[in-house]
Amino acid sequence: MCGIVGYIGDRSATEVIMEGLRRLEYRGYDSAGMALVPRSGGSIQVIKRQGEIDKGLAPGIREESPDPSAAGIGHTRWATHGRPNDINAHPHTDCDGGLAVVHNGIIENYFELGRELRNEGHVFRSDVDTEVIPHLVERYRKTGLDLLEATMKASTYLRGAYALAVVESDDGSGNEALVGVRKESPLIVGIGEGEYFLASDIAALLPYTRDVIILENGDFAFLTREGYRLYDQGGEEVHREVERVDWDADAAERGGHPHFMIKEILEQPEAWVAALQGRVGSDRAQLPELKNAPSVVDGISQVHLVGCGTSYHAAVAARPQFERLLGIPARAEIASEFRYGDPLLGPDTLVVFVSQSGETADTLACLDLAKSAGCPTIGITNVVGSSLARGADDVVFTRAGPEISVASTKTYTTQLLILDLIACHLGSVLGFDDDARARVDALLERAPDLPGMGWELLDNQEVILRVAEYLAGWEDVFFIGRGLDFAAAMEGQLKLKEISYIHAEAYPAGELKHGSIALIEQGIPVIAISTQDHLREKMASNVEAARARGGWICLVTDRPDDSTAQIADEVIVVPRTAEILTPVLVGLALQLLAYHTAVLRDCPVDKPRNLAKSVTVE
Ligand code: G6P
Repeated sequence: MCGIVGYIGDRSATEVIMEGLRRLEYRGYDSAGMALVPRSGGSIQVIKRQGEIDKGLAPGIREESPDPSAAGIGHTRWATHGRPNDINAHPHTDCDGGLAVVHNGIIENYFELGRELRNEGHVFRSDVDTEVIPHLVERYRKTGLDLLEATMKASTYLRGAYALAVVESDDGSGNEALVGVRKESPLIVGIGEGEYFLASDIAALLPYTRDVIILENGDFAFLTREGYRLYDQGGEEVHREVERVDWDADAAERGGHPHFMIKEILEQPEAWVAALQGRVGSDRAQLPELKNAPSVVDGISQVHLVGCGTSYHAAVAARPQFERLLGIPARAEIASEFRYGDPLLGPDTLVVFVSQSGETADTLACLDLAKSAGCPTIGITNVVGSSLARGADDVVFTRAGPEISVASTKTYTTQLLILDLIACHLGSVLGFDDDARARVDALLERAPDLPGMGWELLDNQEVILRVAEYLAGWEDVFFIGRGLDFAAAMEGQLKLKEISYIHAEAYPAGELKHGSIALIEQGIPVIAISTQDHLREKMASNVEAARARGGWICLVTDRPDDSTAQIADEVIVVPRTAEILTPVLVGLALQLLAYHTAVLRDCPVDKPRNLAKSVTVE
């Protein structure tokens, strides 16, 4: 997830773009840059630097003091391809620097396109997928098409989700133009008095205008000093309503939401699209990032999945998939325990590290331990260029976009997806038995529907809100489940505990009777998760036992006709999908539950007491 700003008008484009980028920096901050069209004509000036805006781009602009300009585009980056550095920062240009592009999203077929364009003689400078775009536009510009036509033509070759802003040099006659494209990733047009803007989100435009057009999927925008025109994906000129936004500047950074956490919860379907993109084939998972593990997997006799906090819970949920699909023992390990637990490690042990930040000290210490024992290693992280990404033999990015709220949400559910895909990918190298094949087929078939199911869940929060109202009045809550549902229960209780300060415990449902049931008394909330058909009857008995002691039962199920629903006080229904994928939807429901409960208790949701987003100490 990156931030885009474009400007055309009488103000200083440098200043407008800089202000916009600062407001979008929450979307990514590993590098930033801008391309400016000098008022006096001549080549585009591109200035870009690694690092946060104030440490990189701002001093860069002071050093290079660009000519006055009335049009330009800017970008703040969250790397998905290629390490964060000056060269990989956006904008990217064509061969002779005549046109520049900024991009938010992923171009899936960049490799094939890059090869084709190099064969035609185009010269590439960076490692990023984006760079194919200016070269493609250049290809059609040279056939005589204008900037808009060439961008439209180039877009027909791009696969993936993206938002683009494109600009080219002008001869000083004042005919500068900007082109914007929206395909899945958001892009808006801002309308001022004789000036026009592009931006990934409204926050960037608030100092200048509150009149915006939210582009629809597939739309192109063509902006000049005189006005703007919009086209749909078929190239037909279209009319879109101008909307007036009424946000204060702080809320704008959070996309109009009261907290980053809810914004990030709501972004999940979009994050799942990005995480799955190009990785789900018809009969196999496709992870070209795994360059080493597939070649050694037939010599592996055990797998450890290592992480801390929420990342550890993702490992717990994925463990059975690794065991089942690879046919070898798999264990989920808490990094701070694993590192001092004297584990038996060697070249026959695959160690998979899960870390949103890629910087958690305990997890990195385990990486060193595994590497010194000669273990093959895989890192799963959200942060390109992080220590885990640099240190593991193979790395797979979750592509969830920046997560600001301390409590992990979208990075957890994307970790679940990536872990499952890795298990599928490595398992396919070894070959599947019939049961494993059926699980993999179900996952591959149903995964593309998951974002739609996420939206469905997000659109129906009434029951979750009612349950949150009940929980908000208690100081102890139990979460119970079996198998995958126990893994989901562990994350559900952590989420509730960390942001609402309610004491919560996750228990394997069958274990409750061996002690903790003593704490269940009249009215105590019990969140019972039951989404696996072969365990439904067992769960029903455990729920009965909790209810018989006075427990207030909220059942989380994927079957509204579940017989246990009859005895529950509330029932949260998640859409029904492949069993392996269900923890993703249960995760989303329990995040919403924790969030609404914390809001009702007036807790500082985004910055819970005593916690840090990334823990780089032991
Ligand atoms: C901190 C955060 C948790 C996170 C954990 C692991 O405790 O507050 O939300 O799950 O670190 O972080 P990582 O970046 O390794 O996933």
